[in-house]
Amino acid sequence: MSDHPDIRVVPADATRYPTLLQLQVHEPQRDFVGPVAVSLADAAQCGGSQAMAILCDDEPIGFYRIERQPRSIADRDFERATLGLRSFFIDARWQGRGLGTLALVAVMHDLKQRHPDACDVVLTVNVRNTPALALYRRAGFQETGGLYHGGRSGPQHVMLGALPT
Ligand SMILES: CC(C)(COP(=O)(O)OP(=O)(O)OC[C@H]1O[C@@H](n2cnc3c(N)ncnc32)[C@H](O)[C@@H]1OP(=O)(O)O)[C@@H](O)C(=O)NCCC(=O)NCCS
Repeated sequence: MSDHPDIRVVPADATRYPTLLQLQVHEPQRDFVGPVAVSLADAAQCGGSQAMAILCDDEPIGFYRIERQPRSIADRDFERATLGLRSFFIDARWQGRGLGTLALVAVMHDLKQRHPDACDVVLTVNVRNTPALALYRRAGFQETGGLYHGGRSGPQHVMLGALPT
């Protein structure tokens, strides 16, 4: 990896599936994100859901999904036009090098370009997921106050972040 990694985000089209399917998180982190295969299949079935790849110097290192309907994230609506972010992760081999931080910046700028009318991004993060919580807070996301109790791994903070203007 270069000293100045080129982090980009692109739609996860079928040509990228073989490499994306090799991405995974550390075993204890599986409480927080599902396998890429499940997420890709789910995104293909959900009209408003787009699977995205995170690239470092053109190599896939991570994955996430964008939801046009924020209600699908935390079962609630928002006053401003809001997109949902889910399943954001950096592959285990690439974690701890600052790439998650860079990737989240790239995600937010890409979202503003693809969805110029959107104002905010909502996501949920497990209350036990300290690294992710810190990452989102540093990127400007704030807890909305309530906990979301859906999902398989316990309560989650609902966080909202403003897209760049
Ligand atoms: C959360 C995640 C995306 C961070 O990616 P990353 O590339 O490791 O992030 P960075 O290297 O930019 O580090 C971000 C911060 O988290 C800290 N961090 C990273 N991994 C950590 C770990 N295992 N334990 C504690 N802190 C950790 C880093 O020290 C850094 O904090 P700092 O800037 O104060 O030093 C990654 O750990 C991940 O994919 N986790 C599993 C999936 C997940 O939980 N996704 C979020 C779902 S809501």
